[in-house]
Formats: sequence, structure tokens, C-alpha cells
Amino acid sequence: MHLPTLAPSLLFLHSLLPVVSAHSHIAYLIINNIHYNGYDPSPGRTTNLPNAVVWPNTAQDDGFVPPSNYTHPDIICHRDSSPAQAHAPVKAGDKIHIQWNGWPVSHRGPVMSYLASCTGLNTTDGCASVDKTALTWTKIDNSSPGFLNETGGVPGKWASDHLIASNNSWLVGIPHNLAPGPYVLRHEIIALHYANKKDGAQNYPNCVNLFVEPPAGKVVNVVANGGRGPVLTRTTLAPVMTGPAVVLAPGEGVKATKLYKSDDPGVSLDIYRTLTGYEIPGPTVAGWAEPVPVKSQKKVSEPLTTGTPVRVEGTRTVPFPVEKTAA
Ligand SMILES: *[C@@H]1O[C@H](CO)[C@@H](O)[C@H](O)[C@H]1NC(C)=O
Ligand SMILES: *[C@@H]1O[C@H](CO)[C@@H](O)[C@H](O)[C@H]1NC(C)=O
Ligand SMILES: *[C@@H]1O[C@H](CO)[C@@H](O)[C@H](O)[C@H]1NC(C)=O
Ligand SMILES: *[C@@H]1O[C@H](CO)[C@@H](O)[C@H](O)[C@H]1NC(C)=O
Repeated sequence: MHLPTLAPSLLFLHSLLPVVSAHSHIAYLIINNIHYNGYDPSPGRTTNLPNAVVWPNTAQDDGFVPPSNYTHPDIICHRDSSPAQAHAPVKAGDKIHIQWNGWPVSHRGPVMSYLASCTGLNTTDGCASVDKTALTWTKIDNSSPGFLNETGGVPGKWASDHLIASNNSWLVGIPHNLAPGPYVLRHEIIALHYANKKDGAQNYPNCVNLFVEPPAGKVVNVVANGGRGPVLTRTTLAPVMTGPAVVLAPGEGVKATKLYKSDDPGVSLDIYRTLTGYEIPGPTVAGWAEPVPVKSQKKVSEPLTTGTPVRVEGTRTVPFPVEKTAA
């Protein structure tokens, strides 16, 4: 088969696709069979669902952040985002099911996840009042197209195709030795269908507050020293963790405004040509990360239980007030 002759016809078909402005957002999360509210971008809503663990933003069109804004704070956690007030409680080693509210098949590209610690960033409420520009990110999942020639042609099979096959969801592995404390998970899809045009890639970053609970019966002071930290070190964690703890000290990792460049080969390319490889944008995945491989991605059944997220108060967490205003 002659791929070079196939490509122009696909390109032609592709150019007939309507330019839709409604893409997606994180609708909810499932952690240990429990459901946590995501972001609800319904028009007219000015605040997030009170107990949502996904950061609110103003992308009510479910839109994206373009490469021309890779140095703008919108790339951190989406357009005009601000911290969610609640945190989803997780245990190190959990797999978090992230449910997107659908995903268009044409929007092919990589799926990536990053973690930033809020410990040591001068807050006493975990990530709820964190300065987003102070967050520094470590990549924990880097899902490539995986199988460029799996389908024997262009544009090949991408991580987004696997996400769609899993009912538009993605499993993110939380490393089993991650130090307890508050974290922001930055989960992102980059759609590459227009990446052959100037400023054509589309980033869909979304942030989720997590509180990694210490092992049962242990207490970790995540805000000692007025939250200035770093209070979590391998030494201070030795009584709590059984192995060498993974500690993300303040400043470790990369600011989101430094993750990508508009001319990165992974965001400036033509996916309708036969690719011999793909360079995923951003930093490499941390050696201690435990991503769920593309081939092990699967959908998790809808849970029956709705969870109560937590609020971080000093050295402890308390149940987040139950939502009063329904959508
Ligand atoms: C991109 O940057 C401009 C300002 O330079 C801003 O007006 C716009 O809202 C930004 N965000 C997105 C998501 O494009
Ligand atoms: C698939 O995802 C939708 C949200 O996009 C959700 O409403 C539905 O329950 C999910 N189906 C299953 C089987 O989990
Ligand atoms: C936290 O506050 C201290 C004292 O005001 C300041 O020196 C430090 O730069 C702050 N750190 C961050 C990450 O904001
Ligand atoms: C896919 O591409 C790789 C690298 O070019 C090649 O080694 C492999 O044989 C190809 N697989 C198929 C099924 O064509």
C-alpha cells in the first residue's frame, strides 16, 4: 500500500471536518470505587461545584490553550483557573480514574499527567489557596501514540484513541511511595489535528487537588513551620513510610509555563503523514513514576458511592462540607 498517496486524501477529508468549539473537560473522578465531582462548565455558572476537586476555569466552551499561550498562566491549569477548595483523598499506590466528558476522535494526541506538591508553599489549607505560578511539575505519565503503525496507516493509533476506547477515561497511577500531603495533579491531552498549522496544537490541561493520606495510624505534619517547609524529607518521613519516600521538594520539577515551546517537534507536526516516531512534548517521566501502560487502560464501572472530599486544616484533614447548591 502506498501511504504517500493515501495521505493527501485523508488530509482533504480532514479539512472538511467542522471546526467545533466544544471539546471536553473532566466530569468526575473515581478513586477506590468512589465518585468525586469534577468541573461543571455549564454556561452561567460562575463558581465551581462547591465540593469539586477539579480546578474551575473559564473555558465554558470546553476550549483549549494554544501554543501561543505556552508561557501564559493559562497553560498551568487551563483558562483563568483557580484552585479547587476540596481535595480527593487518595492513598499512594492508588489508580485514579479520570472521566472526560467525551472526546472527539479527530482530536488525536498524547495524554500526559504531572504532579506538583503544595507542601512548603506557604499554605495551611493544602492546595486550596496555593499560588498556581509557584507550582513546579514532575511528569508521571507520558502516553505516546504507542502503536504508530498498528492500524497500518495514518494518522495511526494515539493515546487519545485508547482514551476513547475506555469510555473517554484515563487511569493515572499514584506512585506507591509518594510522600503524604497535598498535591495538584495536572492531567492533559494535546490534540494534534491542526498541529501542521501555525499555533494549531490544542492543549487541554486540567488540575485536580489530591491529598495523599499517610499510612493508617500515622500522622504527617504537612504544614509545620507555617507551611514554609520543606518539612517532608526522607528523614522526617522515615517513621511513616516503609521504603524510601518520594518527596517533591518546593522548586523540584518544571513550572508549567516552561513545559512546552510552540516549535517542539511533538506539537508542531503533521499527523496525516507517515511518522517514523513521535517525540512527546515536555520533560521525561520521573523514574519513580508508576504510569498505567496504554495497553492496560480500561474503563472503570460507574460507582454507586459518592465520596466526601477533604479540606486540609493544619496537620489534619476534615470532611469537606456537603454540597448545598446543586447544578
Ligand atoms: C491567551 O493569552 C491571551 C493574552 O495574551 C489571553 O487573552 C487569552 O485568554 C489566553 N488564553 C487562552 C486559553 O487562549
Ligand atoms: C461513560 O462516561 C460517561 C461520561 O462521559 C458516563 O456518564 C457513563 O456512565 C460512563 N459509562 C460507564 C460504563 O462507566
Ligand atoms: C513563603 O513565605 C516566606 C516568608 O514570607 C518567603 O520567604 C518565601 O519566599 C515564600 N515561599 C513561597 C514559595 O511563596
Ligand atoms: C511498525 O514499525 C516498526 C518500526 O518501523 C517496525 O519494526 C514494525 O515491523 C512495524 N510493525 C508492523 C506491524 O508493520
